[in-house]
Amino acid sequence: MIDEREQVMEKVTALCKRRGFVYPAAEIYGGVGALYDYGPYGVALRRNIRHLWWRHVVELRDDVVGLESTILMPPSVWEASGHLEHFTDPLVECQGQCHQRFRADHLADRERCPNCGGPLSEARRFNLMFRTHVGPVEETASEIYLRPETAQGMFVDFRNVINSTRVRIPFGIAQQGRSFRNEISPGNFIFRLREFEQMEMEYFCRPGEDERWHAYWLEERLRWYVEVLGIRRENLRLREHGLEEKAHYAKASTDIEYHFPFGWGELEGVANRTDYDLRRHQEFSHEDLSYLDPETQERYLPFVVEPAVGVDRIMIAALVDAYDEEEVRGERRVVLHLHPNLAPVQVAVVPLSKREELIRVARDLQARVRPHFRVEYDETGGHIGRRYRRQDEIGTPFCLTVDFDSLDDRAVTIRERDGMTQERVPIAGVVERLQERLAG
Ligand code: GAP
Repeated sequence: MIDEREQVMEKVTALCKRRGFVYPAAEIYGGVGALYDYGPYGVALRRNIRHLWWRHVVELRDDVVGLESTILMPPSVWEASGHLEHFTDPLVECQGQCHQRFRADHLADRERCPNCGGPLSEARRFNLMFRTHVGPVEETASEIYLRPETAQGMFVDFRNVINSTRVRIPFGIAQQGRSFRNEISPGNFIFRLREFEQMEMEYFCRPGEDERWHAYWLEERLRWYVEVLGIRRENLRLREHGLEEKAHYAKASTDIEYHFPFGWGELEGVANRTDYDLRRHQEFSHEDLSYLDPETQERYLPFVVEPAVGVDRIMIAALVDAYDEEEVRGERRVVLHLHPNLAPVQVAVVPLSKREELIRVARDLQARVRPHFRVEYDETGGHIGRRYRRQDEIGTPFCLTVDFDSLDDRAVTIRERDGMTQERVPIAGVVERLQERLAG
C-alpha cells in the first residue's frame, strides 16, 4: 500500500490520461478549464457507475420511476426554483498585478490575493448558471438556461408523472444527465467541473414523514457505495450542513463525504427539500401541483428527500480508492483494485504468442465468455507480463491465458489481478468458474 496519499491524485490523473480514462477537452487547442472528455475505459467505467445507480435506485425497487427532461430550461423555471436569485457564489478579484478571480468563501485570507499578494476587491455575487438564446435573436425574450441541476425536471414534470403512471406516495422520480455550472474556482481534476453528470432522485413523501425518509436514504446510499461499488467504508463519512451552508431550498442536508487525497470532500448530498420546489412552481405557474391521496381523499403538497450525486466524483473516488503500487520481483506494479462491478474490462483474453493455432483457440474462448462478461482481447506483441501489467492498471480482475498446452489439454489459465494467482481450468467450464470467482 502506498501511504503518500497526496501523491495519489497526481498518479491517478496521470494514469487516467495514459490509459484512456480521461483527457482534457479540446486539448489540441490548449484545453478549456474544468472541461474533460472521457476516453474508452473512462466511458466504460462511467456506464457501469450509471448502470449500478439506476439498477439499485430505480429497477430493483417498486417505488421509483425514471425521467429524462431537457437540459435547456426557460427562465421561468429558474425564477420559481430560486436559482436566478440564490444560485450564486461570492466572487472577489485581485486588484494587484494578476487580476485573477476567486471564490471568497474558498480563501483563508479575504484581503490578499493568494497568487500575487495584491489587494482583493469587495465580494460580489456571481450567478453560476450558463445562459444562451433560443432562435436567432439574442434578446431577453429568447433567453434560456443550461440546467445547473437535473432536479427541476422532476418538479416541473411531477403532475405529468402522477397522471400518467400508477405511482402513489411515497415514490421517487430519478434522472441521470448533464448539468452545467460556471464555477469560479473549479479544480482538483474532475472534482469540480463546469459540465458534469448528475444522478438525482426526488423522493416525494407525506409531510411529517420526511425526516424518516431522509435517514432512510442516507443509510441506503451509504450502503450502495460500500456493498455495490466496493468503496472502503473508512474513506466515507456523513457530515451535516451547518445553517450557513444549507442550500436555499433545504431544511436539512447531509453530505456523504469521501476522503479524497486533497481532504474530505462532498461525494453526494442528501437533502430534505421540504415542499419548497413544488410550492414555488405552483405559485409561479398558477397550476395545481398538489397530490390527492386516493384512499384518504386528503390533498397536500408532498415533501421531498433528494439523494444527488455526480458521476465524475464517484469516478475519482473509485479510482483513488482502488489505486495501489507494489514491488513485484524488483519491478513496480501499478494496480487498480476496482470492484468487478465497476471494472471497465472484467476478463481479458491473452494468447501467449501470435501463433495462428493459439489465436484460433483464444478467439473461440473470447466468443464463449463475451456474452457473460465485459471482455477484451489482447494479442499485442510483447511479453505476457507486460500485458498483465496493462490489465492491472485498468483494473481487470481476470486474464485468461491461452498457451501451447491449451492446444492439448483444452484448458486455460485464469490469472487473478490482486493476488496474481494462477488457476488452470478446462475451457468448457471457464464461464462457470469465472462467474463463481467474480461473485465471491
Ligand atoms: N439537486 C441538488 C444539487 O444539485 P449539489 O450538492 O449542488 O446539489 C449534487 O450537487 C452533486 O452533484 C454533488 O454532491 C456532486 O457530486 C455533484 N456536483 C455538483 N457540482 C459539481 C461540479 N461542479 N462538478 C462535478 N460534480 C458536481
